[in-house]
Amino acid sequence: MSVPPESLDILVLGGGGREHALCWRLRQSPHCGRLLCAPGNAGIADVAECINLAITDPAAVVAFAAEHKIGLVVIGPEAPLVAGVADALRRANVPVVGPSAAAAELEASKGFTKDLCAQHHIPTARYRRFAGAADAHHYVAVHPLPVVVKADGLAGGKGVTVAESNEEGLAALAEIDGPVVVEQCLEGPEASLFILTDGETVRVLPTAQDHKRLRDGGEGPNTGGMGAVSPSPRLTPAVLKQALDQIVHPTLKAMRDRGTPYQGFLYAGLMLTADGPMLIEYNVRLGDPEAQVLLMRLESDLVALLWATATNTLASVEPRFAAESAITVVMAARGYPWQAVAGTLIDGIAAAEALGVTVFHAGTRRNENGQLVAAGGRVLNVTALGHDISEARALAYAAIRKIKWHGGQYRRDIGKAD
Ligand code: AMP
Ligand code: GLY
Repeated sequence: MSVPPESLDILVLGGGGREHALCWRLRQSPHCGRLLCAPGNAGIADVAECINLAITDPAAVVAFAAEHKIGLVVIGPEAPLVAGVADALRRANVPVVGPSAAAAELEASKGFTKDLCAQHHIPTARYRRFAGAADAHHYVAVHPLPVVVKADGLAGGKGVTVAESNEEGLAALAEIDGPVVVEQCLEGPEASLFILTDGETVRVLPTAQDHKRLRDGGEGPNTGGMGAVSPSPRLTPAVLKQALDQIVHPTLKAMRDRGTPYQGFLYAGLMLTADGPMLIEYNVRLGDPEAQVLLMRLESDLVALLWATATNTLASVEPRFAAESAITVVMAARGYPWQAVAGTLIDGIAAAEALGVTVFHAGTRRNENGQLVAAGGRVLNVTALGHDISEARALAYAAIRKIKWHGGQYRRDIGKAD
């Protein structure tokens, strides 16, 4: 059994609500020594030292880790992973949670993932890859509808269009610079599945589900996620098992067999079709805001869990999660997801937390007077536990009423509708 050192100095990369939740749980561990976060945010600054660091520059991260004798690096977002930061840390013998750049291809290239699925009979939408928009033109023009047009590479969640007409598909195609994937449209409710693996042992995390649309009732544009609940009412144990057996485990085996084993958190976006769960996409990280509800329910020591992941000893650690339900409601800046209004004053977080919720920060900072202000699209995540979702919801929304912020918007129906 692998136990982390008595006091481990930890560096977290990222500065959103997901990283605040990670830092908040890491800080609670008796094994947590210095906790640093790059770049962090105003909420993270309460539990960690926020630092400036070029987090997608492998050499810069390795140099910082060496200089500060960092014992564990936890990488939140995909960009540093795709840039090879985890590889560089591993080469320098710094324990790290997160996949290599080769394994991060599961998110960085939709075409890579589709080919892997095809080779290993992993259920996913039928597809074709094209080197560029011009090559895909005829295929999109005559494709049965709806047709799904995707930029092959990382697009910050904006590279996908589900087109109801061929003209719309062609318009989406015209926006894409670089390789393209065109897919059959899948029908059904969506669900997300999260696992943590050290390359061999797989720990399945509780189910969670986000609400992607901006407005109540699942209306408005797609966002990074306006709220989340855990457990997901959709991923029943039977569907979860099917998704693990047919999608996640074969993917992990294929990655091992290619010589690019996957280590870290893996997030599978699924469509629960009439023919069973099918893979929409992988993300090589925890979801945001799904991480906030998962970590809210985590009862065991996060440092021990992540240390075991980074040192290939996850077989000795079985994470425990509360039986309760968790919810997080995202408060976003007005104008999000188009042009988020920055700099508006936020007050009342202490009053909200006094009710028993935890308010994770995403885009926040302190202004020159030390006041908390909005500094991003998604700004706060009001996160609560309850015996069931409706109890957690009631608590989260009661707490939101204590937050004084004129520049914000949030959905009233998280945990109810899509
Ligand atoms: P992605 O960035 O790949 O997660 O796609 C964003 C969203 O587009 C997904 O959450 C789905 O709602 C939708 N989507 C992606 N691929 C498909 C597909 N093949 N069929 C239907 N909807 C899709
Ligand atoms: N909540 C969706 C994501 O993290 O990609």
